[in-house]
Amino acid sequence: MHQAVGIIGSGYYVPERIVSNIDLENMLDTTDEWIWSRTGIRERRIAANNQVTSDLAVAAGQKALLDSGIEAGEIDLVIVATMTPDMPFPATACIIQKKLGLSKAVAFDLSAACSGFIYGVSVAQQYLQNGTYRTALVIGAEEMSRILDWKDRNTCVLFGDGAGAVVLQAGAKEREIISVHLGTDGSGCDLLKMTAGGSLLPASHETIDQRLHFLQMNGKEIYKYAAKAMAESTIIALNKIGLSPRDIDILIPHQANIRILEGLAERLKYPLSNVYVNISKYGNTSAASIPIALVEAEEAGMLKRDDIVLLTGFGAGFTWGTCVIKW
Ligand code: UT7
Repeated sequence: MHQAVGIIGSGYYVPERIVSNIDLENMLDTTDEWIWSRTGIRERRIAANNQVTSDLAVAAGQKALLDSGIEAGEIDLVIVATMTPDMPFPATACIIQKKLGLSKAVAFDLSAACSGFIYGVSVAQQYLQNGTYRTALVIGAEEMSRILDWKDRNTCVLFGDGAGAVVLQAGAKEREIISVHLGTDGSGCDLLKMTAGGSLLPASHETIDQRLHFLQMNGKEIYKYAAKAMAESTIIALNKIGLSPRDIDILIPHQANIRILEGLAERLKYPLSNVYVNISKYGNTSAASIPIALVEAEEAGMLKRDDIVLLTGFGAGFTWGTCVIKW
C-alpha cells in the first residue's frame, strides 16, 4: 500500500536579534565586503541567551500546526533534524513533544547536518506511505551560534540560528512529495565536524583549551563538492519521475553560500532567477535553511498549485539529498 504524502501545513521561526556583518567587523578581523562578496551573507539571526533549539523548533512547529488546521493530538510522529540539540540526550524531539503537547507522537532526532530536513522528510514519507502513521511533524532547527568559535573568522561569519517545520499527512494529494533522493559519502566526515563532547573526546579541560567543542570546517574542500552533489542528486530525483531541470518551477536549495547556488544553477543549466535565495538575511542555518526558505517562498506567493518545487541540500558527513514536491 503506497499512499500519497503531502504537506498540509508549514511554518518557520527566526530569533529577533540580528547580527550584521558590520557588527562582526567590530568583533573580528573581517569586513562586510569580504563576507558579502564571498558568501552573499549580510546578516544572521542569533538566539537570545535563554532561547534553546527546542524553543525555536516549538515556535516553528506551532505555526505549522496552526497552518495545517490539525490538533496537536493528531500528530503520530515527530522528527527533528538538528546538529545543535538542546543536549546530547534526551532527543530534542522528545522535549518538543512535551512542549507542544503531542501526546501520542513517537519522537526522535535525526543527525544529517544541513541535509537533515530532507532526510527527515524522506523518513517520515516512508512511515506515512506504508500506513504505519498518518500525520508527521518534521522540523529542522538549529542554534549554530552555540557551537561556533566566535574567534574563528573562517567559520563564525557563515552561520545563523532558526527553525522551519512542515506537517505531512498520508492521503494528502496537494503539495505531494513525488520524488526523493538521498546520498552519503563518509570520506568527507573530517571536513566539517565538532570533535569533542562524544565518545572520541569526552569533555575535559584539554578539549576546552583546544577549542574542540566548536565547529571546525575545511570550507574550500566542501565548496568543491557541494554544487556537484546537489546537481547530481537533483537530476536523479527528477529522472525517477521522468522530469528534467527545465521542469522545475522553483528551486529551493540549502543556503550555504551564494556562489555554491550559482554553481548549482550553472551545472543544471537552470536560471538563477528561479532559485530561491535568502542567505543574505540568515546565513547558513543548517537543517533549518531549506524549510525556512520553503515557507518564505510560499508566504511570498511564489508557489502555485501544480508547480514543481525542488528542495536540495548538502552538508556534513557528507550528506546530501533532494525532494521534489508537486505543489
Ligand atoms: O552547509 C554546508 C557546509 N558548508 C559550506 O557549504 C561552506 C562551503 N565553503 C564556502 O562557502 C567557502 O569555502 C568559504 C566561504 C568558507 C570560504 O570562501 P573561499 O573563497 O574559499 O575563501 P578561502 O577559504 O580561500 O579564504 C580566502 C582568504 C584567506 O586568507 P589568505 O589565506 O588567502 O590570506 C582567509 O584567511 O580569506 C580569508 N578569510 C577571511 N577574511 C576576512 C577567511 N574568512 C574570512 C573572513 N573575513 N571572515
